[in-house]
Amino acid sequence: MGNYTITVLAGDGIGPEVTDQAVRVLDAVAKRFGHTFTYHKRLVGVAAIEAEGDSISEATLELCQKSDAILFGAVGGLPNYDGRFKVKPEEALFKLRKGLQFFANLRPVKPLDSLLNASPLKAEIVKGTDLLVVRELTGGLYYGHLEPPVPGKPSAIRRTEHGTDAIDTLLYTEAEIERILRIAFDAARDRKKKVTSVDKANVLSSSVLWRQVADRVAADYPDIAFEHILVDACAMHLIRRPSNFDVIVTENLFGDILTDEASVLAGSMGMLPSASLGSHKTVHGRLGLYEPIHGSAPDITGQGKANPIAAILSAAMLLQYSLGLKDEASAVEAAVAQTIEAGYRTEDLASTGARTVNTEEMGQKIATTLVAQA
Ligand code: NAI
Ligand code: MG
Repeated sequence: MGNYTITVLAGDGIGPEVTDQAVRVLDAVAKRFGHTFTYHKRLVGVAAIEAEGDSISEATLELCQKSDAILFGAVGGLPNYDGRFKVKPEEALFKLRKGLQFFANLRPVKPLDSLLNASPLKAEIVKGTDLLVVRELTGGLYYGHLEPPVPGKPSAIRRTEHGTDAIDTLLYTEAEIERILRIAFDAARDRKKKVTSVDKANVLSSSVLWRQVADRVAADYPDIAFEHILVDACAMHLIRRPSNFDVIVTENLFGDILTDEASVLAGSMGMLPSASLGSHKTVHGRLGLYEPIHGSAPDITGQGKANPIAAILSAAMLLQYSLGLKDEASAVEAAVAQTIEAGYRTEDLASTGARTVNTEEMGQKIATTLVAQA
């Protein structure tokens, strides 16, 4: 039985709708397991711009750093958001990721058996898929700009006597590669004990270094099966035999592309959670930012159509990675699976189930199922 503080940044659009349900499920966890969660709710995105003049205030950033974990909804805008402010709501996320150095982005993909027909791929291909993509989030091409690299600076565009050219630099240090590899291997220890490191070592020097460092780290984990695979081959295997993967670890751009591809396996954007971790430790674990992979979905905002499961599974990741509460995380996952098995579906998956419910009803079903498991 513990006391934990969680900063809740619901954001705008469907962010608050799905985050309310994630908090409802966390309350059910507190009730069943006897924990105390103290929530600090703060504004980000459009609401923060309107009230505080910035997408996220310095005070909120400081609060995040002092919490045990951060639960994030989505930012991006409302249907009536007309860009009348100079600041973009999405800046809140970049400030959080960069300010707190969340260098590891974890995206699990585990399609539920009763949702296999929701994917455009054949059910027999998707069946048994349970993988985790670990994407490096603060290095590589996104931050490479000539020499020396300047984080966040746009790529160099130059005019020469022959016309215009542009340069992006893909730079990784050994330390950056090693810390993301260790996150992947540690994660594999709690899973199916296999790591696939994805690179383009037949072409890129940064990938050659990536492989060397990966081999060195792998030697520290003799209990984990390890393989290298080229990114183009990985893209193919992901949709041919997704169930062969356990943990996939890769650099920033490859990870961006592969996670969008992998999301197709789960059937809906509304099903996929994520965690972003850095090196800030808390008393209970690693400080992390937990959010659904989807955005603010202005097209369905305020209609009760948003699927809260991605947000609820993000809360499960929060329990596991930042609070060290593995049984509690498993209980949330089980409650989600049982609710889906019982036929409840939000609008996005309505064609695959018997009972269509709204956002709040889905949250309530999952919360009551969780408490009833006890
Ligand atoms: P989106 O993820 O908001 O929506 C894409 C499509 O998926 C829409 O048709 C939406 O209705 C549907 N969808 C998304 N989440 C859903 C859910 N939980 N349940 C049911 N259906 C769901 O992406 P879009 O439309 O490209 O971006 C909208 C805004 O969100 C933009 O301003 C964008 O910048 C922002 N955004 C923010 C993110 C974040 O806060 N992390 C991530 C991605 C986009
Ligand atoms: Mg992407």
